[in-house]
Amino acid sequence: MKILRVIVSLLVFLGGLAALKAPHVAHLRPYSLVYPSSFGSRFTIPENNPLTEEGVALGRMLFYEPLLSKTNTVSCSSCHQQSLAFSDNRRLSIGVSGKPTRRNSMSLANLLWVKNLFWDGRVSGLEAQAAFPLTHPHEMGQSLEISAKKLSKTRLYPPLFKEVFGGATITGDQITQALSQFERTLISANSPYDRYLEGKYQLSATEKRGLELFMRGPAPERGVRGANCAHCHGGVKLFQEVFHNNGLDSIAVQDKGRQEITGEASDNGRFRVPTLRNIALTAPYMHDGRFATLEEVLDHYNERMFHPSNLSHELRTATNVEGGKTLGLTSAEKKDIIAFLHLLTDSTFITNPAFANPHPKNKPIR
Ligand code: HEC
Ligand code: HEC
Repeated sequence: MKILRVIVSLLVFLGGLAALKAPHVAHLRPYSLVYPSSFGSRFTIPENNPLTEEGVALGRMLFYEPLLSKTNTVSCSSCHQQSLAFSDNRRLSIGVSGKPTRRNSMSLANLLWVKNLFWDGRVSGLEAQAAFPLTHPHEMGQSLEISAKKLSKTRLYPPLFKEVFGGATITGDQITQALSQFERTLISANSPYDRYLEGKYQLSATEKRGLELFMRGPAPERGVRGANCAHCHGGVKLFQEVFHNNGLDSIAVQDKGRQEITGEASDNGRFRVPTLRNIALTAPYMHDGRFATLEEVLDHYNERMFHPSNLSHELRTATNVEGGKTLGLTSAEKKDIIAFLHLLTDSTFITNPAFANPHPKNKPIR
């Protein structure tokens, strides 16, 4: 089975169109987003925050700016490191307080297409999201007003903010807007899997078996073996924006996930389906980082899952053994799926100089 899809670089002029409606950016250069046409254009960029080259560059400086934290030591990049696809390698992250965050840090790839952010989808829009880590006592722990004041006292930032946003003073909203502009440019679409879809990469035998198992649902009565991962982690971006309970606990007590937002018992232990792009780089896994390796993740889906009453139907019923109660993959098949997951690593995303720390080392230019 060979899936052929053509990936076309598409220049999006939305930034340009929005610029016309936001007069303060008329003198700035619109930023062109480049992404495969298969990713689709189902996203919105707020009209009052169009992407500009200058705004994205400022957002990148802020993403790597420790002055935005109470201790002047923590930046967004402390928990979202480019080499790890903008996640970190801890089970729970550590910010200004030294106390662990409640959840595992998330990768920041292809957020342009995500509406409801965080593991429980509690915030919509990147502008609103950014205020959470900035002010959270365990993350950066500083009010937006103080952050704006600290930046105003530097030599570096006031002219940059003035150029991008106009106005005489730096505001908290401008900080979250610039950060969001940068985050919207973090597009990951150049893994070996993408090249395979373009017909430019030949799968090894194990990768091919892994891909087939990942994509197909099992049907033992017809001799079809599968793991049905694509049911939730499918599509070219490797996620669907839906919430599911994937059987991590019999009852979610400590962290009830989506239930904390909706109040519905049926949402207990439901979390947003995360993208599997760059998954080999973003260990440990799940909202609480409970699994250290992809092997442990596969063991979970294959034989360890709990069966709470709201376990996703597909996970409850999928089995490769007639009448079986678990997925029933062989250990070789689990390895095949992991080989496929490694194909999702985009080495250009994690080394792209446009996403790296722009501040010169050992040379404070403030
Ligand atoms: C101390 C570690 C830490 C710092 C610092 C931090 N984050 Fe995060 N980030 C996290 C954790 C943990 C989560 C998941 C939290 C949750 O789901 O409740 C997260 C989630 C996110 C998400 C959601 C991604 C998604 O797919 O829904 C975005 C966006 C994000 N962070 C951006 C930022 C930005 C921008 C900054 C800097 C202003 C920042 N983070 C600073 C730890 C951190
Ligand atoms: C019914 C939907 C569904 C199916 C089917 C499914 N998953 Fe998931 N997956 C999820 C959800 C929801 C999460 C997040 C759960 C959490 O953290 O509480 C998740 C998390 C993950 C993670 C951790 C991601 C991260 O960033 O930490 C991996 C890896 C993963 N799944 C792989 C797979 C594989 C491999 C399969 C097939 C064997 C599969 N999933 C099948 C819903 C699903």
